Amino acid sequence: MCGIIGYVGDKEAAPILLESLKKLEYRGYDSFGFATLYEGNICVHKDVGRISEHKNLNLPGKIGISHSRWATHGGVTKENSHPHMDCKNQIVVVHNGIVENYQELKKELLGRGHKFRSQTDTEVIAHLIEEDLGSGFEAAVKKALSRIEGRYALVVMEKGSDELIAVRRGSPLIIGAGEHENFVASDIPAFLERTRNVMYLDDNEMAVLTRTGVRFCNIQTGEETKKRIIRIEWDAEQAKKGDYPHFMLKEIMEQKETIMRAINQDEREIQNIADEINKAFGTFFVGCGTAGKVCLAGEYIFSKVAKKHVNFVVGSEFPNYHHFLKPRTLMITISQSGETADVLEAVEVAKKEGVKVISLVNVMGSTLDRVSDHTFLINAGPEKAVASTKATTAQLALVTLLAYASAGKLEEGKRLLMETASAVNDMLNPRYEAHIKKLAEKLKDEPNIYIIGRSLNFPIALESAIKIQEVSRIHAEGFAGGELKHGPLALIHNGTPCIALIANDEVKKDVISNAMEAKARGAYIIGISPESNEIFDYWIKVPDAGNASPIVNIIPVQILAYHLGVLKGLDPDYCVNLAKSVTVK
Ligand code: G6P
Repeated sequence: MCGIIGYVGDKEAAPILLESLKKLEYRGYDSFGFATLYEGNICVHKDVGRISEHKNLNLPGKIGISHSRWATHGGVTKENSHPHMDCKNQIVVVHNGIVENYQELKKELLGRGHKFRSQTDTEVIAHLIEEDLGSGFEAAVKKALSRIEGRYALVVMEKGSDELIAVRRGSPLIIGAGEHENFVASDIPAFLERTRNVMYLDDNEMAVLTRTGVRFCNIQTGEETKKRIIRIEWDAEQAKKGDYPHFMLKEIMEQKETIMRAINQDEREIQNIADEINKAFGTFFVGCGTAGKVCLAGEYIFSKVAKKHVNFVVGSEFPNYHHFLKPRTLMITISQSGETADVLEAVEVAKKEGVKVISLVNVMGSTLDRVSDHTFLINAGPEKAVASTKATTAQLALVTLLAYASAGKLEEGKRLLMETASAVNDMLNPRYEAHIKKLAEKLKDEPNIYIIGRSLNFPIALESAIKIQEVSRIHAEGFAGGELKHGPLALIHNGTPCIALIANDEVKKDVISNAMEAKARGAYIIGISPESNEIFDYWIKVPDAGNASPIVNIIPVQILAYHLGVLKGLDPDYCVNLAKSVTVK
C-alpha cells in the first residue's frame, strides 16, 4: 500500500529521501511526493508515475518527508499525490491508510471555510491540525487524530519546527535510530543502509523525531513510552535485485534455499502447536490473496495427512464467522507481510472471543507478528515483487510440516520437505526456465488460460490463476477438475490453453480425465506432472513430491507468469493496480 519515509539529521534530506523511497516503491507506485523544510518554509515536489524513474530532487533542507502512493481515495493525479497541506501551508502530511469518516470531516471543515486542493481523505488531517496549531504542534496533532476513524500511519511536519511527528494506528511505522540522524519509514529496507537500529511503533503511539533523539508517547493516555532498540541482522543486499533483471525472478530462484529455511523451526514448538490444533474446538486458517490460497491448501493437507478438519476463511470474510468462535478455538493466520488489514481485523475479532492466534509470517516485527500469541517466522527473506513466490512455497512447507506433526509424524514430514527442497534446487536451472519461457512465447497473446487441479492441487490451480493474472494481465481462472463440466467447459474452444496440475496421487486419473474432457473440445493441454502423458500438448516435468506436490507444482507456473509478463512488456515486479502490502480494508 503506500510507502512513507521521513528524515531528520545533519545531512541534506532530499537525496536520502529519494533513495529511500525507491526502496519502498513496491508499496505504491502510481505517484509520489516529497516535502522538506528550509529556512522556515516548506518546499514540495510531487509527480505522477514511478519513483524509480525519478533522477534528481532539488529540495533544500535537512528535514523532510516523502510518500509513494497506491491510490484509494481520489484518482492518480499530481494534486492527489502526498504530501498534503493545510490552507496556510504550515502543515504537511504523508499518510498510509484510510480516514473512514473523511466525508463528514471534510464537510465540517469546508463549512468553516477551509479550502481543499485534492480529492483525498488525507487532506482533512492537515486542515484539522491547522485548526489547533495555537495549542502547539504536538497537541494539535493529538487533537486532530482524536477525530479520525480508521487505520493509519502518518508523518507530519510543521513549518518552523525541527521535529517530525509520526503516529501509528494499524499501519506499520518503524523508527531507524542513526547517529545525528533519525528515520521513520513504513518498512526497514528504506533506511537499512544507514542504520540497523530500529524501534517499532505500536498502535496509538506517537514518535517525535529530532536530529538528536526520538521520544515516544501514547496518544490516548498522553503517557511517555519507552522503546527497546532492536538490531536488524539481515543484509540490505538481500533486499536488492543483484544480477537479476527483476525481483520476481530473483525470488523464484531463491526457492532453492527458502523451503529449507522455512522448515528449520524449533521442533518442540511445531509439535506443541500441532497438539493444540488437535485439541482445539475448531481451527480457522485465515489469509488473503496468495496467502489465502495457502490456507486453503492447508485445509486439504490437514485433511489428507492428519485426517483433521480445519477451516479456511478469507480474511475479509472472517468477521462473519464470529458466532463459531469459542475460547478453545484456534486461529492460524498466514501472511507474508504481517500487515494485511483484513487479516489484522480478523485477529481483532478472534481475540475479542478469547481465541488464541498463531501466525505464519515472513516479516519479523510486523503487526501480525506482534499481536499473535505465537509466531512462526517463515524466514524467506525480504520479498519485494508484488506477486508472492518464495513466501508462498515457504508457507506451504510450514503448513505441511504442521500437518505431519499433527498426525504424529513430524520426522516423516521433515524428511519429505527436505527431499522436496533438494528437488526444487535441482529443478531451478537455466534449461528448465528456458523450457517454460518457450511455452510463454506460445501463450503470450492468448486471452484466457484455464488451470485445473484436484485435492491438494485444487488450491494451487487457484493460486496459479492469481499469478498469471497479476503478472501478465491475461485472464486466468483456476477450477477443481471436477467442476470443469459444470460451466467452464463452455469457454473452451480450439487452442484454449488449459494447464493440468497432476501429482502422483489417488486423484491423478481423475485430473487426466478432466484434461481429456477439455482436450476433446479443442483445448491445448499443458501438463505439469512428474510423468508425461499422451494427452499433453506441452509437458513441464516436476519432481514426484508426494504430499508436497503443491510446492513443486506452483513453481513452474510462477516462472510461466514471470515470462508472460516480461514478453508482454510489463514490469513483473509491479503488477498493474495492485500493491504488495494491502494495509486498507
Ligand atoms: C496482496 C499481494 C499478494 C498477497 C496478499 C496478502 O494482494 O499482492 O501477493 O498474497 O496481498 O498479503 P500478505 O502479506 O498478507 O501475505
